[in-house]
Amino acid sequence: MLDKREFPKGFLWGAATSAFQVEGAAFQDGKGMTTADVRTAKKRDVQMDTSVSVDHYHHLEEDVLLMKELGMKAYRLSISWARIFPNGNDREPNQKGVEFYHELLDLLKENNIEPIVTMYHFDLPMGLVNQYGGWVSRKAIDDFVNYADFLFKEYGDKVKYWLTINEQSVMVFMPDMLGIDVENNSEEEILKKSQMANYNMFIAQAKVFKLCHDKLPNSKIGPAISYITAIPASMKSKDLLAAKQLNDYQAFSYMDIAVKGEIPQYYKKMLGNMGILFEQSEEDIKTLKEGTADFLGVNWYCTTIVKKKDDCDKNSSIFKQVEMIKDKDLLYTDWDWNLDPVGLRYALQALNDRYPNVPVMITECGWSQKEKLEDGKIHDEIRIKYLKEHIYQMYLAIEDGVNLIAFNPWSFIDILSSSDGMEKRYGLVYVDRDDFNEKSMKRYKKDSYYYYQNVIKTNGSDLIEECDKF
Ligand code: BG6
Repeated sequence: MLDKREFPKGFLWGAATSAFQVEGAAFQDGKGMTTADVRTAKKRDVQMDTSVSVDHYHHLEEDVLLMKELGMKAYRLSISWARIFPNGNDREPNQKGVEFYHELLDLLKENNIEPIVTMYHFDLPMGLVNQYGGWVSRKAIDDFVNYADFLFKEYGDKVKYWLTINEQSVMVFMPDMLGIDVENNSEEEILKKSQMANYNMFIAQAKVFKLCHDKLPNSKIGPAISYITAIPASMKSKDLLAAKQLNDYQAFSYMDIAVKGEIPQYYKKMLGNMGILFEQSEEDIKTLKEGTADFLGVNWYCTTIVKKKDDCDKNSSIFKQVEMIKDKDLLYTDWDWNLDPVGLRYALQALNDRYPNVPVMITECGWSQKEKLEDGKIHDEIRIKYLKEHIYQMYLAIEDGVNLIAFNPWSFIDILSSSDGMEKRYGLVYVDRDDFNEKSMKRYKKDSYYYYQNVIKTNGSDLIEECDKF
């Protein structure tokens, strides 16, 4: 038991966003085009794109002051690669982009907010796609390493926590984000190219881990991995195995590679079943071994309950072998993500069992819904319930022995949802705009903002006391 019923001293209470989802100014001050810009522009008739987004670029001070008032100890942001190097690998950086992040990092420092910086959150510079096809080419490895090297030199004294790549496993399902031409490739080619890109990202990430250790020995670096925890629909062994395999394929393989520095056999076999065979050079094996993570960044939203299908091709992807089941006892968002806080404790324990000495940082965790401003207020009770119950389960997990060091709910402010535009809101702060109208862009604190403010102020103790009574 902890001495007092509160979170450990120094716990990083934060919140998260990513560049293309909040910044806007997508074509201003020299920023280059990214795959995220292109992808959202294609959906412009149904949702907003990246061009203005919630205009964080022009609301920097105001937004950081809102973070300060909330009491945030940390802020997870991402740097847009194409704001620094418009084509991804230019000889000279874009000075205005470089200055923008200095300004943001300085504002955070002035307000005692620890930055947690993601280097690459879905937005690959189109320059690299046009030059050589993006991540499918090994040339992207060197370009990512050079970009990281620049970030370490430029911002190394201002940033202690670095995150390399956000949700690599999710990007494999968004091949256009990786620079793959989805219109002119067959399904089989897309699968092969996505896995090639995936492999190249593993190598690039390992090199950047090592570079960080060499250049910034006082900094810590890790990946940000999506961990939507699969739970078996029954205690039948076939469902247990299916849930395990889904977690292995989607999350643990990525964590094993980042933490242990080698591609696990179960993962090679799963890929092999899907016709993906690769030979690893001795050099790549060495690279993975030499560059490993200091902590695990985990994006956790919900569980997914899976049942093994009776009729399925055993050699197909594990996704095709399972059916997702809805639990009628759980609440679901309009987009079918459940509210299952005990699932988070279970997930954190699983991490602790597998990686006993590795600190864990929750880099995303949140509840989405449609919202309408009424009298300048947003009464987001379900988000409050989501925060309360998840934070309580985090506390119990810490008592279980999990080395959890940070919590960054998604998202600090309403963002451009990567799949559903502005209709799907996650923020603690509401932004007055919708998909087709920029409106006033005014910021409003939601009820959840005030709730989380008290959680931070009391270091979780009020919340724990309340939940202990249940
Ligand atoms: C994570 C991403 O996958 O989930 C975020 O890192 C994203 O960028 C979040 O916004 C929620 O997904 P969506 O599609 O609802 O925006």
